[in-house]
Amino acid sequence: MITVNSSPVLSCRSLVKSFPAKDGRDRLQVLRGVDLELKSGQMIAITGSSGCGKSTLLHLLGGLDRPDQGEVWWGDQPLNGLSGNELANLRNRMIGFVFQFHHLLPEFSALENVMMPALIRGDGSRSASNRAAVLLERFQLQDRMHHRPSELSGGEQQRIAMARALMNEPPVVLADEPTGNLDEDNTEQMLELIFEIRSEFQTSFILITHEKDIAARCDVHFLLQNGQIDTQEFG
Ligand SMILES: Nc1ncnc2c1ncn2[C@@H]1O[C@H](COP(=O)(O)OP(=O)(O)OP(=O)(O)O)[C@@H](O)[C@H]1O
Ligand SMILES: [Mg+2]
Repeated sequence: MITVNSSPVLSCRSLVKSFPAKDGRDRLQVLRGVDLELKSGQMIAITGSSGCGKSTLLHLLGGLDRPDQGEVWWGDQPLNGLSGNELANLRNRMIGFVFQFHHLLPEFSALENVMMPALIRGDGSRSASNRAAVLLERFQLQDRMHHRPSELSGGEQQRIAMARALMNEPPVVLADEPTGNLDEDNTEQMLELIFEIRSEFQTSFILITHEKDIAARCDVHFLLQNGQIDTQEFG
């Protein structure tokens, strides 16, 4: 039984973000004032056309980049004003991030990649290794644990990236197209695992997806368009 309680575990207000345009004069306005609240145990889907700013928004929410204007909170902690180190420490405990292009460390095995957030937190390597192995088994990767990312398929790398994001049992997981490289069966397995994890740990998820039927299975579906979340559909 999922209880979505009322205080947000992550929220943002009036987020604005632009990038330098190619000609070096005008800036590319990507986000033009985005407001969002994620509650404990809630699952939000974000869809929108390619280049509309979905990854940009997720990076700001995950504290991986800073907005031009506006604020992000993790629980009641505003990110504005935190130093790089404070932000990194808090992120390690609060946020699991699944990058659109995985960003697994190429020189480490699947197991070592999944262990990494726990080692950074200061866990001993034996307990980190045991827990990473259990997680990889849940993703049916027990036979691939000792391979490096370059020896694994795109879908396997995606599952490892999700396992890594879950390693420290963060209250919030931000996942950028976590099923983008998966076939139908593996997509279904990944979604079932996400639903299981949220039941077990009351984890909150924001999933970026291009697939309408995945968005429909989430609690809330936001469409990012013209730099704003201007349509809400409830799944
Ligand atoms: N560091 C950057 N410097 C300059 N432009 C950037 C930068 N990052 C993103 N952009 C531009 O901002 C816009 C939004 O990019 P973003 O990656 O957020 O899109 P997206 O919605 O995630 O797209 P996709 O569905 O293809 O992944 C794009 O036009 C992109 O080229
Ligand atoms: Mg993207």
